[in-house]
Amino acid sequence: MRLQGKTALVTGAASERSIGWGIARALAAEGADVAVNDISQLDALENRADAIRAMGQRSIAVPADVTQPEQVEAMIAKTVEALGGLDIMVSNAGIIRWEHFLDITPANLRAIVNVNIKGNVFVCQAAARQMIAQGRGGRIILTSSVQSDMQFPITPVYGATKKAAHTLVGVMALELAQYNIIVNHIGPGWVSSALNDLSPDLQTAEGIEAQRQVVPLKRDGSIDEMGRAVVYFASLDGDYTTGAFLRVDGGLGISKYSS
Ligand SMILES: NC(=O)c1ccc[n+]([C@@H]2O[C@H](COP(=O)([O-])OP(=O)(O)OC[C@H]3O[C@@H](n4cnc5c(N)ncnc54)[C@H](O)[C@@H]3O)[C@@H](O)[C@H]2O)c1
Repeated sequence: MRLQGKTALVTGAASERSIGWGIARALAAEGADVAVNDISQLDALENRADAIRAMGQRSIAVPADVTQPEQVEAMIAKTVEALGGLDIMVSNAGIIRWEHFLDITPANLRAIVNVNIKGNVFVCQAAARQMIAQGRGGRIILTSSVQSDMQFPITPVYGATKKAAHTLVGVMALELAQYNIIVNHIGPGWVSSALNDLSPDLQTAEGIEAQRQVVPLKRDGSIDEMGRAVVYFASLDGDYTTGAFLRVDGGLGISKYSS
């Protein structure tokens, strides 16, 4: 129980198949009390909070749109009120669109940048302010992507926002170190969450098999594997690591598509 007595908030955690849920469940398994956020599937979000309570930890569902700073502030305030503080912030919510560079639409560009960049900024800023006010340090962990490190065709804007997450994490790590706030990010490769349901590469059994063959470990990752990587950064084990990127991708980032 490496996180006994700690409080956490995870964004984008409503779906049972989501990485956010894998992270929330892993944090709770280590003894943390965990608030869960999403913008949609709010009944499912309540179920996630119920499931954490069934594990013996405190939990609350805090619906909010991470692109709206006032909603983000209210989400943090509700978490602090219910759980007594905020020690671990996991900014995980993200969206993707598949389109070639020449086909990028203004609407998709705006939507992806809003959630994946502005959302991260608003969430991390509000969380850091809360942690500074508490005066006991804290952990901020972003879910970026293997695309923080490499380029894929047909996800140009998504990939750019994940590189932006890398820069944001580095600058936060530098500027927040004085408050003992440790900031890192994990880079999933391929996880079979709803995010990938529309992936053009994963629509047939042959496509899925081809994708497996690209991953050196020959399989997708599980949401629990993503959760355990976050636990590393959230726990004592990660005490001396800040501004770091951990690929959790079965080696995808060093595969034949690597840059
Ligand atoms: N699945 C993968 O293969 C993969 C690979 C690399 C990185 N990632 C990243 O992992 C993170 C989690 O994705 P996932 O795979 O679990 O997908 P997912 O679609 O299951 O979960 C993302 C959640 O974020 C929520 N969300 C979207 N916009 C929001 C907003 N404005 N405010 C609050 N919540 C919002 C969605 O409703 C959704 O429930 C994302 O940042 C994604 O980019 C996923």
